[in-house]
Amino acid sequence: MSFNAAITAVGGYVPEYILTNKELETMVDTNDEWIRSRTGIIERRILKEEGKATSDLAARAILPMLEKKNIDPAEIDLIICATVTGDYIFPATANVIADKIGAVNSWSFDIAAACSGFLYALETGAKMIESGKYKKVLVVGADKMSAIVNYEDRNTCIIFGDGAGAVLLEPNYEGNGVIDSILRSDGSGKEFLKQPAGGSMIPPSHQSIDDRLHYVHQEGKTVFKFAVTNMADVSYEVMQRNGLTGDEVNWLVPHQANLRIIDATADRMGLDKSKVLINIQKYGNTTAATLPLCLYDFESQFKKGDNLIFSTFGGGFTWGALYLKWAY
Ligand code: UT7
Repeated sequence: MSFNAAITAVGGYVPEYILTNKELETMVDTNDEWIRSRTGIIERRILKEEGKATSDLAARAILPMLEKKNIDPAEIDLIICATVTGDYIFPATANVIADKIGAVNSWSFDIAAACSGFLYALETGAKMIESGKYKKVLVVGADKMSAIVNYEDRNTCIIFGDGAGAVLLEPNYEGNGVIDSILRSDGSGKEFLKQPAGGSMIPPSHQSIDDRLHYVHQEGKTVFKFAVTNMADVSYEVMQRNGLTGDEVNWLVPHQANLRIIDATADRMGLDKSKVLINIQKYGNTTAATLPLCLYDFESQFKKGDNLIFSTFGGGFTWGALYLKWAY
């Protein structure tokens, strides 16, 4: 009997501390009006707790989700964590998450695809379910962006926030779950969005710290141009090849980088604004966490059989769109 990989539970977590546009006005030369009109962001969350990292955000998203579903963490077969702010260079943050949640029977690994990380991980997790070997797969998107943001750089510090989201994937025999996806990457985009130092290209040194190379570097205008066309193109393409019209798509789940990019994607797909999930005003850009945090915030509105299109663009460059039928 054929089956798909379906999302059967959703979890999310954002830290308590709220960094408002007003507070940013006291830190860099910016203003609330500029941030709202250019990005749609009003506030973002920051993890301020000493000794806590991306794995803690993830564990706090996962544990209540499993508890709600009455699932023992020991039942989890695999954990895939999408992040660019792992607790360590190695081991993988997914390994640490497995330990923190008590997933003693799982294997686990990370995926680094920046803002597209969750979609890459969702596709990978779905294929693991479809293989028939794994029955319960956790797909997590988590980033503590505040660890790599320069709060003296107004080009980037107004954009990013911290957060985590997670989904549980299980086999579905009713035709719901992941139906199709288009995923892409283009490494020549690396100059425009990256964390220059800390890897093998520029290992950490006094010089790399003095030169502030351990922070996010983004050439916003260039990234905007690539994002706005590529996100819209793949979203439209995945609709077309599955015979979906704008009316038949129930929800667009877009990466929350910039409200203007989201609007352009929805327009290209011919979608009514009421179908577009938006929470950028509350969290800013949480990198790998934006898509699952959208699911978490809007879960109560989804109905079984709804057609969801996920759409994303991020550092790499990486981008993609995925078509999923909601399973509950
Ligand atoms: O998530 C991964 C993918 N990332 C994205 O998709 C991000 C894509 N890029 C963007 O969202 C936008 O490019 C930004 C929000 C980052 C910037 O918006 P923009 O409309 O492209 O602004 P800009 O960089 O072209 O700057 C316009 C002006 C400049 O001043 P001049 O040269 O016109 O005098 C900037 O210096 O706005 C100035 N500016 C600011 N002013 C107030 C730049 N940052 C700020 C700021 N506050 N925070």
